[in-house]
Amino acid sequence: DAAVFDATAAGVASPRDTIVDAVREALVDAFGEKFRDSRPLVTSATKPEFGDYQCNAAMALAKPLKCKPRDVASSLAEKLGPRLSAICEAPEIAGPGFINLRLRDGFVAAKVKSMVGDGERLGVPRVTNPERVVVDFSSPNIAKEMHVGHLRSTIIGDTICRVLEFRGHDVVRLNHVGDWGTQFGMLISHLKEVAPEAIEDGAEDKFNVGDLVTFYKEAKARFDEDDGFKEIARAEVVKLQAGDAESKRAWGVLCEASRRGFQDIYSLLGVELEERGESFYNVMLPDVVSDLESEGLLEESDGAKVVYLEGFESRDGTSQPLLVKKSDGGFMYSTTDLAAIRHRVTTERADRVLYVVDVGQGSHFAQVFQVARRAGFAPEGVQLQHVPFGLVQGEDGKKFKTRAGETVKLSDLLMEAVRIAGESIRKRREEEGGEGYQADEVELERVSKVVGIGAVKYADLSMNRESNYRFSYAKMLSLQGNTAPYMLYAFARVQGIKKKATEGLGDLSGTEISMGTPEEAALARMLLRLPEVLEDLEVDLFPHRLCDYMFELSSQFNRFYENCPVNTGETEEFKGSRTAFCSGTADVIERGLGLLGMGTLDRL
Ligand code: ARG
Repeated sequence: DAAVFDATAAGVASPRDTIVDAVREALVDAFGEKFRDSRPLVTSATKPEFGDYQCNAAMALAKPLKCKPRDVASSLAEKLGPRLSAICEAPEIAGPGFINLRLRDGFVAAKVKSMVGDGERLGVPRVTNPERVVVDFSSPNIAKEMHVGHLRSTIIGDTICRVLEFRGHDVVRLNHVGDWGTQFGMLISHLKEVAPEAIEDGAEDKFNVGDLVTFYKEAKARFDEDDGFKEIARAEVVKLQAGDAESKRAWGVLCEASRRGFQDIYSLLGVELEERGESFYNVMLPDVVSDLESEGLLEESDGAKVVYLEGFESRDGTSQPLLVKKSDGGFMYSTTDLAAIRHRVTTERADRVLYVVDVGQGSHFAQVFQVARRAGFAPEGVQLQHVPFGLVQGEDGKKFKTRAGETVKLSDLLMEAVRIAGESIRKRREEEGGEGYQADEVELERVSKVVGIGAVKYADLSMNRESNYRFSYAKMLSLQGNTAPYMLYAFARVQGIKKKATEGLGDLSGTEISMGTPEEAALARMLLRLPEVLEDLEVDLFPHRLCDYMFELSSQFNRFYENCPVNTGETEEFKGSRTAFCSGTADVIERGLGLLGMGTLDRL
């Protein structure tokens, strides 16, 4: 059977895509042209006894077609069978009208063979129509400490970018930092008083972000308590807006100091972003307001300019306004986001704009998106999508704080994970190494960093991003469960088994795959799911799907390895095929960890 399927017969599309296309064709054949553009739902089978995939279209179509669901299913299956005969066994109808599909072993084997032969793409096709995707993520605020919410945004946003990039999309990673607004009045005024030397030319690096947080608090306290200072601060905003050179230099000093602090975190995390903060859009704000006006959307309310929203009602039943220009002439966070949407659509030519921002800003984005649509800033063809995530909590479920009740510095948080990881690795190695063991300090440091940083990332990514998430060093660094150390260890182990088996075998790319045991058949099918997992992730942007998949894959590998000896020599005839399974599994885990922004290790 296997010989029938060469790599080209196996095709480049994922099995699920091939099946969806075939179901659509079969629908047209059986019930007419009106199904030409349908996108029938094909899901993974709920149980292995049902095969690999399941199509439930018959139930939904029974009513409009005025037929019994089972009759719809059998007409459909009759047309579907021949179309899929190269990759599936004959379809089976079950229950009220489910169509169950089982991939042919020969097809699965051929697919796995081509996957092992292509360690780069692993059967994941590049999209045929790449989109330009702007991803707005991380986005901390100048002169404030980057907090755990920004950390989540950075980690989740980076993974989304990596997956889209791997699929072949054209991704723009934007850091929409909060570097503009009235708060700069008080910050600059305060800076001019307490550290005038910092504003002198060439002295831009005299401030660091540690200073900045206290500095922000001091400035805020004075602003709240001292009316004279408030006046000075107000005047300073006006000067900054007007482009006064000294004010701009002071602003630059504050931005530069923050930037250095943020960059430390990005370097630790290995995340790359292009900074394009709120200030970038400042010159565009007056146009946004006047264009809203010419679109007939702008109204006046107590001297302020607003757009009344559709579907957002205040308590008294009247329509809620979105404020775009205050009565004092100042613009809002929302106005900047409107300008940013327009810039991203026109200048950046985005097809899709993603905002990886906490769930608390859900209504902000819903409102801004609505106004952008109504004003024609974003045509229907451009997708605007808020990608929300929940709060970070302490182990007690309360707000995440240090023991002393302070907000946690991100660099401290990351380095603490690295320290704990390092300690436990050192301890384990000392136990294993016995007397006379000398740690290789340089290597230990490198390993601790991969494990510690990886643990923080994986813990976040393996959760459904929409839920709140409890931060626990003990859990994220545990070797048990769906954690970074577990996955890193699984990778090191599979890689080790593969290396040992490959000695003397050479290139595995032409190896025929044999699936004589249920464990091999199941592992093969699991490997083939990678493209589908990534396709789903690309649409709904839930990274935990990839973590769940990798965890399942490692468990399936363990079952395979227990039952199918690879390196014992007693099963020479299967050695090539089984080594190919190890190779495929190792490559998939390595690729998966890479997409999650994690490194890998040969040993822990
Ligand atoms: N700076 C904002 C904050 O810290 C996040 C910005 C998100 N992006 C946007 N385009 N509004 O809450």
